[in-house]
This record gives sequence, C-alpha cells and structure tokens, in this order.
Amino acid sequence: MSIKVNYNNMMQRVLGEHGLTDQQLAQSADLCLHAHQVVEQNRGKGMQGWMDSPYNQQDVVARIKEVAKRIQNECETFVVLGIGGSALGPIAVFNALKHLYYNELPRSVRKAPKFYVLDNVDPERISALLDVIDLNTTIFNVITKSGATSETMSQYLVVMDMLNKKFGRKAREHVIATTSESRGNLIKLATEEGYETFYIPDGVGGRFSELCPVGLLPAAVVGIDIEEMLRGAREMDQLCQNNTSIDKNPALAMALLQHLSIKQGKNVSVMMPYADSLKYVADWYCQLWGESLGKEKDVDGNIVNVGQTPLKCLGATDQHILIQLFNEGPYDKVITFLEVANYRTDIFIPAGCDKVPDVNFLCNNTMGTLLSNELYATKYALTKRGRSNFTITLDKVDEYHIGALLYMLQMQTAYIGVMLNINAYNQPGVEGGKNAVYALFGRKGYEAFAEEMKNAPQDVDKYTV
Ligand code: PA5
Repeated sequence: MSIKVNYNNMMQRVLGEHGLTDQQLAQSADLCLHAHQVVEQNRGKGMQGWMDSPYNQQDVVARIKEVAKRIQNECETFVVLGIGGSALGPIAVFNALKHLYYNELPRSVRKAPKFYVLDNVDPERISALLDVIDLNTTIFNVITKSGATSETMSQYLVVMDMLNKKFGRKAREHVIATTSESRGNLIKLATEEGYETFYIPDGVGGRFSELCPVGLLPAAVVGIDIEEMLRGAREMDQLCQNNTSIDKNPALAMALLQHLSIKQGKNVSVMMPYADSLKYVADWYCQLWGESLGKEKDVDGNIVNVGQTPLKCLGATDQHILIQLFNEGPYDKVITFLEVANYRTDIFIPAGCDKVPDVNFLCNNTMGTLLSNELYATKYALTKRGRSNFTITLDKVDEYHIGALLYMLQMQTAYIGVMLNINAYNQPGVEGGKNAVYALFGRKGYEAFAEEMKNAPQDVDKYTV
C-alpha cells in the first residue's frame, strides 16, 4: 500500500511533555483489539454496510459506466443537487482527480460535461448557476438518501418546475435520482415520474457513501476510473481487516492517536493537505469526523458530550492564516498533514534575480519542492514547540490512492467510534435542526415542535446593539 502514516511527531520522544509514550501505545493494545473486533463483527451489518462497498458493486458499477457514457455523449452539464454526505464526497473526488480548472477547459479536452454541485439553498447561487447552464443539455442528479432534506428537495422542486415548463413529459430525461430504495420521498417521486434511479444501500449513511452510487455516478460522468477507486478501497480494507495492531493497520493507528489525544484535552482535529487537489478531502473529512464523533450520549446512554472539532486548512495558504495560532495558541490540536510524494505536474522557478539575494534563493528550484519544503518546515516548527502532528503520505493523487485514502479515514472513524463507545453512525444533532425547519414551515406532524419553539425565550432588545 503506497499510503503511509508517519506519527513520529505525536511522540514524547520529540514533543516532550505534550507527546504520547510507547507505554501508552502498548497499554492500548487491548483497546485496539477490541475496536478491531467490534468493527469486524459488524462488517456489513446495520450501518456498516459501507464496508461491503468495495466488494459488492459489480452490477451497479457496470450500469453507472453505461449511464455515464450516455451522459458524456449527450450532455454539456451535469449538476448534483445534494447536501452534506450527498455532496461532499462528489466535490472532494472531483477536485482531487480532475483538472483544477476543469469547467474552464474546452470540451475537446474535458471529453465530458461541465460539473457543478449545488449544496446550498442560497438563492443567489442557484440563480447564478441557472445563468450559466443550458437546460437543454443539462442532467440533474438529485442525491438524497432520506428524500426528506429540505435543501435538496427544495432545489429539486425549483428545477423540476423549470424542466416541466420547458420539456413537459420529457423533463424526466433530465433527472437522475440517487436515493434509498426502501424509504423516503424521492424514491416515490422517482418511481412515479420514471427517473433513472440509483440506490443508496440501507446500511450506508450519508458521510460513508462516497464509494456507492452517491459518489460513483458523478465521478464516472466526469471520466474518473471508479473501478480503480474501489480497488484502492478494497486494498485498504484488506490491510485493515487483516491487522489488529497499530504497527500494520494505519486506520487503527490514527484512531488510537486521536483517542489518546482527546484524553489529553486535544479537542481540535486539523486536516491540512499540502495539495490544492486535496483541499476538499479536508471538507469531506470535517463532516465525517464531526458528525460521527460529536455525540451527547455513549451507547450505554450516559451523557458524555464527546467529540473532536474538525478544522480544514490548506498548506501553504493557511501558514499565513492559522499557523501562528497552531504554534503559539493552546495545546488543543492534533494536525493531520496530507502529503503528496509526487505532484502530477511541476513548475520550474527560473533564474534571473541575482541582484536580490533574498529572492534569488528561490531560483532554480521547483514549486513542488517549495511546497514540500514548506510542509517540512511547518512540521519542524510545530514539533519543536510540542505541537502534535502526524502525516499521511500519498504516493500520488490518483483514483487508486483516493479510494484508499477515503476508505482509510472511514475506518479510522469506525475504530474511534468504538474506542469512544459511541454510535458513529447516527446524527440526532442534525435531525434537531431539520425538524425545527419543518416546524417553522408548518409541516404536518411537527405541531408540537412548533409549539415548543414558540415558547422558547424570545430575543429582548437589551441584548441587541
Ligand atoms: O451523514 C449524513 O447522514 C448526513 O450528513 C446527510 O448526508 C445529510 O444530512 C443529507 O441527508 P440526505 O442524503 O438524506 O439528504
């Protein structure tokens, strides 16, 4: 496996009092074994259906590839309507694996439709998108597992109204639904209207769904090799499945490092790629980590209010925004660096500044070397000040490594969920907000919630300036 996790900079050996000891790691062997056992016992069961994704999708992959080919031939624009777990994976994978200015490339170079993801209900953004696309040649992929998410379903209603007015019965040819087969509103609408439909398996939750049709269809449409992504995930799964110790299982090692760090009061998990292509992997990770671990109760019903706040950053950009805080602020963070050993392209910094030695030192190097050295230097400075950090190195950014990386982060989340004794797969805190929106809009069945909201303390002028 050409993904490596280097956690030297988590250890007391280099961090001093803020680091972890070999003894702490050794004493956690049973905890790791337990986490591994529980995750394996539940493989494919309940909400761990995502662990089957690398293995059981031959038929659906074949159909996705067929539909993607048709879309590539017939369409100019592909728009995902979705939010949270139904948007972040497609955004992360698209940005990781396609040209960073993909939509600006000529069609002859792209060889596939332009790609947009609408993951908000800001009317200005929706209007702006409608200004730049041609409905005649656009396919909308509505992705919502529950079919109940107000943001996605309102986008769907707006788009369908336009499509119906323009195309009548043929409107349905512009829509692909990705949703639960067994429940929810979108499946009802999809069946009634006859949309092309892909299913999100019951045991695959939103934030664990990139490697099912949620992510695979958009990826295939823009020409990403989804079988390679699944191969990467499969190989990472084998590595994790067959190894119960942190010496061989990188996801288990990362879970333990974070678990021990949380116990030290390090309640912020920073994800900092040194590659623009991986910027949105950090976004995706934020949801995975935040929603999975941020829980009021443990599985036994005890109030624990546990979690580690994820924070997305980008190297080198955020060196000029947040590194001051990371170096000198509270010792409350673990920084995960995402490093790329081989950038897909490099740029030479030419000679020609001999008269200004303070600039000239940059000459005759490459931008890739500069970025790598910035990462090295940042790690050095943080470590010297006792700041916990570890590095995930990808040999390169391609389908195989992205599949493996996302899967590894999902496994890390599964393991730490067991270590923290919480349910990593529910999100009652998200449901609370969703229900409040239903109540505000007077949705049937939410009358009691509306009443409760009405009786909540009202704002008073005293606290408004
Ligand atoms: O991880 C999750 O389950 C959530 O973040 C969902 O992805 C998000 O709320 C969107 O839900 P849905 O796909 O049902 O529209």
